[in-house]
Amino acid sequence: MNSRRRFLTTASLAATGLALAPLAACSRDTVASAGTAATPAAPAGPAPTPAAGALLTRTIPATGEALPVIGAGTSGSYEVALGSPEFEALKETMKVFFEGGGRVFDTSPNYGNADEVLGALLADGGWRDQCFLATKIAADDRASMEAQWAESQRKLQTEKVELLLVHNLRALDIAWPYAQELKAQGLAKYIGFTHYIESGHDATTRAVRELKPDFVQINYSVNAPQAARTVLPAAQDAGAAVLINRAFDDGRLFAEVGNRELPGWAAELGITSWAQLFLKFAISHPAVTAVIPATSRPDRQADQLQAGTGPLLSDAQQTELVRLFA
Ligand SMILES: NC(=O)c1ccc[n+]([C@@H]2O[C@H](COP(=O)([O-])OP(=O)(O)OC[C@H]3O[C@@H](n4cnc5c(N)ncnc54)[C@H](OP(=O)(O)O)[C@@H]3O)[C@@H](O)[C@H]2O)c1
Repeated sequence: MNSRRRFLTTASLAATGLALAPLAACSRDTVASAGTAATPAAPAGPAPTPAAGALLTRTIPATGEALPVIGAGTSGSYEVALGSPEFEALKETMKVFFEGGGRVFDTSPNYGNADEVLGALLADGGWRDQCFLATKIAADDRASMEAQWAESQRKLQTEKVELLLVHNLRALDIAWPYAQELKAQGLAKYIGFTHYIESGHDATTRAVRELKPDFVQINYSVNAPQAARTVLPAAQDAGAAVLINRAFDDGRLFAEVGNRELPGWAAELGITSWAQLFLKFAISHPAVTAVIPATSRPDRQADQLQAGTGPLLSDAQQTELVRLFA
C-alpha cells in the first residue's frame, strides 16, 4: 500500500461501516493518581519520565473495581534468563510501570519462562500487592490443568491471582468448570478466556454470550479492528470487562509506520508517538477496560503509560486510523 493512500486526511475519509461506539458512552472513565501511597519515591538520575498526568481508569462491570487503562503483557518481552542483563533491565521497566500508576500484568504458562520472570520481578521490587495479576490455563485435560496451575502459583510466587483466563478457549468445556472451581475457592478473583486472531472471534463471542465471564481478552488494533463488530459489543451486553492484546500487532505496526509523521490532530490530543496513538485507539472503544502492550524497555514503558492520560480519540479519528491501516 502506498503512503499517499495510507495517510489520507480525515476530511477525505468516508465511514468504514465498523461499529465504533460513541465516545459519549465512556461513562465509566475516571482518573486515578499515578502511583499509590505504597509506591516508592521516584528514582534520581535519568530514569524515563512516568506518565505526566493521571492514568484513566475503567471499572470492572462485575464488581465496580477500577483498573488503570494501560496494563502490560509478558509475551516475548519478559522471556529472558533469570539474572541476565535483560532481566536486570526489566527491573527498571517494571519500576516505571508501577510508579507510573500501572497495575494490570498479563502472562501465561505458554510464554516460555515469563511466569517465572514475572514472579521474580514482582517479588524483587515488592510490587505484588499493587499488581492486578492475570495468568492462564492452557492445557487439554483436567490433570494437566491442575499441574499447570500449581506450577503457575509456584513460578508467580503467589497463592491467588486476580484473574485466571482460559488461553485461546482451549479445552473450554473442561477448563471453564475448573476456573469456576478456583474462583469459588478464592484462588482467582475473576475468571474469563482469551483469543488473539480474527478466526477465533465468532467462538469467543458465542462463549461470552453463553458463559458471561468476568473478563474476556481479545486482539484489537488499528489494522485488526474486527472485534468492534463482534466480541466488544457482546462483552458490553454480557457485562464482561475487556483486556486488549496485540494492540501493536505484536510490534509489526512500528515497522509499518517507520518514520512517518503522526496525523496532524494527534498533537492536539497530547499524543507524541505512534505507540501512544495505537494504545489510545484501543482504549477509546468504550467496551475496553485495559490494554496490555508488551515491552522490555523502560523508555517504551513510560511512553505507553502516557497513552493512558488525556483525551480519547473521537469516532472520526478512530475511523480515520482504521482506514489508514486497512
Ligand atoms: N491468546 C492470548 O491470550 C494472547 C495472545 C497474544 C498476546 N497476549 C497478551 O497480550 C500481550 C500483548 O500482545 P503481544 O505481546 O503479542 O503484542 P504487542 O503488545 O502488540 O507488541 C509487543 C511487541 O512490540 C514491541 N514494541 C513495544 N513498543 C514498541 C515501540 N515503541 N517500538 C517498537 N517496538 C515496540 C515489543 O518489543 P520490546 O520488548 O523490544 O519493546 C514487543 O515485541 C502479550 O504480551 C500477552 O500478555 C495474549
